Amino acid sequence: MAEKHAPIAVLCSGGDSSGMNAATRAVVRTAIYHNVEIFGVAQGFAGLIAGEITPLVARSVSNTISRGGTFLRTARCQEFLQAEGRAKAAEQLRSRGIKGLITLGGDGTYRGAHCLAQEHPDLNVIGAPCTIDNDVNGTDATIGYDTAVNVAMEAVDKIRDTAASHDRLFIVEVMGRNAGHIALEVAIASGAEEVLVPEVVEDLDAISERLANGRRNGKTSSIVIVAEGETQGNVHQLAKLLEERTSYEVRVSILGYIQRGGSPTASDRVLASRLGAAAVELVLDGESDVSVGMENDRVTVHPLPFAWEVKKAIDPERLRVLHMLAV
Ligand code: F6P
Repeated sequence: MAEKHAPIAVLCSGGDSSGMNAATRAVVRTAIYHNVEIFGVAQGFAGLIAGEITPLVARSVSNTISRGGTFLRTARCQEFLQAEGRAKAAEQLRSRGIKGLITLGGDGTYRGAHCLAQEHPDLNVIGAPCTIDNDVNGTDATIGYDTAVNVAMEAVDKIRDTAASHDRLFIVEVMGRNAGHIALEVAIASGAEEVLVPEVVEDLDAISERLANGRRNGKTSSIVIVAEGETQGNVHQLAKLLEERTSYEVRVSILGYIQRGGSPTASDRVLASRLGAAAVELVLDGESDVSVGMENDRVTVHPLPFAWEVKKAIDPERLRVLHMLAV
């Protein structure tokens, strides 16, 4: 009989994203399928340092695939930035005989996981990309991105109703930290006129001119999507500028945290299920310091630093399409 593999633990870290529960469920059930004990860590690396580690069974994750947020709970942890904090965390795992650690989170989580893997090579540390921002390289989409885009798109659809009723221009700020992926996707999906993302320095004169032109050509309302990490001034300054330069009455709406909640889309649930399963199988294969991703519908594996060392680019073709369709 094959030797039983050492137990594995799973944690969620950083900002929650819809689909974290689906990924946790996949990790738990895949481990059980392979006859491996599985533990859940509460509140990310902080819970790991504090030893908040409990066994999970198949029923622990019943009815979680459709739930937003994370039942394990998450946190951002300062102590884990220090080697001493990570040594405590490693000891908590060792003292329970746990060898594998699957970290569900974004690039901040991956940086912590990478340090842990480097400093404690007896552990198998794997990352699976969970963040709404989609700013993790080595995967076409992160778990939670599609849901956030859909939540934001539905909100913009509602804003469009009131914008059209009042002949107004709306500036809608979406999340994404320093990346514009959510903004660009939402802009196309909601038929917005313009988008501002941190990756591209836009000519504000040209934007104002296009919006004013649109109005002259019969548009009665317009939508401008702005990524929160946009660097050309904040949305209120932009509103003032556009009000001066177009004849629109301008309003601002900051969507905020609603983008992190809600039941995951089918696409996020399937991605989470496939990547969660793949992460467990990487631990069983003895891998460490790597992340799983989905590229061209195939599971791919990259060293953890690949996630942040190469910045995931904005697709210029999407920008072109947005502008072509905004006439
Ligand atoms: O990384 C996900 C994210 O929602 C970003 O889009 C946003 O900038 C940040 O987290 C907000 O972080 P916090 O939850 O710490 O306020």
